[in-house]
Amino acid sequence: HRVVVAVDGPSGSGKSSVSRAAAEQLGFDFLDTGAAYRALTWLGLERGIDLDDADAVAALLPEFEATYRIALRPAERWVYVAGTDVTEAIRTTELSRRVSAVARVPRVREALNRTFRRVLAEGDAPGAIAEGRDVTTVVAPDAAVRILLTADESVRIERRAAERAGEDRVAVAASVSQRDAADRRVVDFIEPAPGVRVLDSTRLDVRQTIGAMVELIRE
Ligand code: CDP
Repeated sequence: HRVVVAVDGPSGSGKSSVSRAAAEQLGFDFLDTGAAYRALTWLGLERGIDLDDADAVAALLPEFEATYRIALRPAERWVYVAGTDVTEAIRTTELSRRVSAVARVPRVREALNRTFRRVLAEGDAPGAIAEGRDVTTVVAPDAAVRILLTADESVRIERRAAERAGEDRVAVAASVSQRDAADRRVVDFIEPAPGVRVLDSTRLDVRQTIGAMVELIRE
């Protein structure tokens, strides 16, 4: 049977890059759940709908579900929706600012969670690491290993700013803090749920954090 690993954490904790690298080392699939919320947001912006209108957002779901494709091999990195390669487009600061509105619609969360659970159950890799805000608590509460990856906020802002070289760091800091505050109203990803292991990367570099995660999974 397939080992499922669930990883949660706030923006800039490194949950995406660390989980991806750990999946690669272990030969596991890698599921970036945030990419689905981002791709749905992209589709809404593309169709020109009001993202604060929950019904209009939910109406995008049939087209989204029929056309959304994402790489599951950790060494690959592509996301398609509506026949368009949105791999880069879903990472902009502008789009990041809009995702929380889409992610707070309950029908959206239910539909995406069903898709995530199907992906985690299927697939032929010996295991899968799923990463995103509510993965340890809602998407995969029965996962064999559940990890909350954290780091102090100042360190997380620093890392996000380094990723977004060229963008104003004050704006990056504000966007990280605002998005975490908005998301926390929907799911708590700062306090670990019972049974969830905390991995604090504040004083670890990327390589050490990946090592620590692989260690927790192998235990
Ligand atoms: O950039 P960061 O790693 O913080 O976030 P992400 O994983 O790319 O997710 C982008 C946004 O999608 C988050 O800010 C949440 O609003 C939403 N999201 C969610 O609500 N639930 C998830 N499981 C994953 C993402």
